Amino acid sequence: MRQKIVAGNWKMNKSFSEAEETLDELVNLLDEQEKTDVNIIVCTPAIYLEMAVDIAESSAFAVGAQDVSAYEKGAYTGEISATMLNSMQVEYCIIGHSERRKYHHESNAEVAQKVEQLLGKTITPIVCCGEVLAEREANRQFEVVKQQLSESLFQLQPLDFTNIIIAYEPVWAIGTGKTATPEQAQEMHAFIRGIVEDKYGKEIAKKLPILYGGSCTPQNAATLFAQPDVDGGLIGGASLVAQDFMKIINAF
Ligand code: 13P
Repeated sequence: MRQKIVAGNWKMNKSFSEAEETLDELVNLLDEQEKTDVNIIVCTPAIYLEMAVDIAESSAFAVGAQDVSAYEKGAYTGEISATMLNSMQVEYCIIGHSERRKYHHESNAEVAQKVEQLLGKTITPIVCCGEVLAEREANRQFEVVKQQLSESLFQLQPLDFTNIIIAYEPVWAIGTGKTATPEQAQEMHAFIRGIVEDKYGKEIAKKLPILYGGSCTPQNAATLFAQPDVDGGLIGGASLVAQDFMKIINAF
C-alpha cells in the first residue's frame, strides 16, 4: 500500500495573520473528523515556517518549504539552506516547481543538487516535473518528463530513492482551471513509475508516491485520486482555503 499524500503549495500568498488563520482553521477541521490515513503537508512561504511548525505540532499535518538552496552554506544572500530547514523541524520541501524553472531558471542539474542537500538533512524532497503546452501539443510530454527525472533524480542510490516524492504537474494545467483528465494523469503517472522501475526495480517503483498537480479542486480530486498510479495531489489555489483543502483530503 502506497502512502496517500495531499500537499498544499501556498506559493507567494497570505499575510502572516491570514496564514495563521488558515492553519488554525485546518486544525479545527481536522479535529472535527475522524483520523485520516492521508499524509497532509502544507508548504508555506519560508517566513511562516516557524509558525506553521508550531501549529502543526498539535495537529495531523506536516510542514514543507517551497524551495531550498543548492548549496550547503556561505555567501548566498537571500538563500535558505537544508540545514536551516532541518533546524526548524521542516520535514518536506518542494523543488523543481515549474514556476522556479520559469522565473528563476532552475535547471535539472540544480534540482539534483537540491535533492542531495535535502536528503542529507533528512528532509523529503517533493520533486516536480511536467511539460509545457507546446510540448504536449507536439506529443513530447513523455520525453520531457523522462529527461527532467533522469537528470534530477537518477543519480541517486536506490536507498535514497525511497525517500522521494514525485509531483507530475503539467504546466498548462497550473492555475489555468484546465485540469489534466484522469486518463492523462494516469498515463503519465504509469509512465513515471515505469521509468523508475527500469532504473531502480519493481519494489522501489511500487512504493514511490506520485502526486498530481494542476487545477486540482474539490470537484475533480476524487476522480484523479481514483486512478491506480495517482497517489494524491500537490494543490495550489485550492489549498489556500482550509475548507477546500479539507475536501480534497477527504476526496480519497
Ligand atoms: P494550482 O492548483 O493553483 O493549479 O497550482 C498547482 C501547483 O502549481 C501546485 O504546486
